[in-house]
Amino acid sequence: MSVRIAPSLLAADFARLADALAAAEEGGADLVHVDVMDGHFVPNLTLGPPVVAALRKATRLPLDVHLMIEQPEATLSRYLDAGADWISVHVEATHHLQRCLDSIRRGGARAGAVINPATPVSALAAAWTDLDYAVVMSVNPGWGGQPFLQPSIPKVRRLRDDALAAGWRATIEVDGGVDAGNAGELVAAGAEILVAGTAVYGQADPRAAIEKIRTAGSGVRV
Ligand code: DX5
Ligand code: ZN
Repeated sequence: MSVRIAPSLLAADFARLADALAAAEEGGADLVHVDVMDGHFVPNLTLGPPVVAALRKATRLPLDVHLMIEQPEATLSRYLDAGADWISVHVEATHHLQRCLDSIRRGGARAGAVINPATPVSALAAAWTDLDYAVVMSVNPGWGGQPFLQPSIPKVRRLRDDALAAGWRATIEVDGGVDAGNAGELVAAGAEILVAGTAVYGQADPRAAIEKIRTAGSGVRV
């Protein structure tokens, strides 16, 4: 199984998002990660459906939209209409996880659920069959550039094992502080999609940075 790299636009220059998309394409990225923050679920505020729609028109890469918003069920349809290909919601942000996942799938996108560092893997147990992917936050969401939380590695392994035991073939994404230094261990633990913001757009050559993370994450499955 090969690793997929999802550069996070949060670390790009927001005045030059088209350049960031071009760098992701030229660097061979598999997805583009789009961080939506509402100023409530997390203190930071970023972008919403109009910007997602503009990004959709500007790249052929699938958009992986990470909703860090309270009550995502209220505005999910707007992200579907904007052309999001993958949409993830936080289990901490909704009382209606399965309803959200079902809405995402019925809207034609892949449905993901995200767990914060303090949220146990068991929070996903009731939703295995409704999930196309599960996201382990390896920082507390809100900002890019934070240090990777090391306990995320055994957590990814636990998620993979629990999901397999439940008969669900996991697509696990890891988000936060990912770089070439931890990519190998993450993939070995079961991660298949690596989100990287600072490790891509914080570098002088984002294209080369994507390749470096891919190389570090390849060929180390156990
Ligand atoms: C954090 C975001 C992440 C972030 C990753 O709240 O969800 O996607 O952009 O950025 P880095 O890789 O810099 O931690
Ligand atoms: Zn994210």
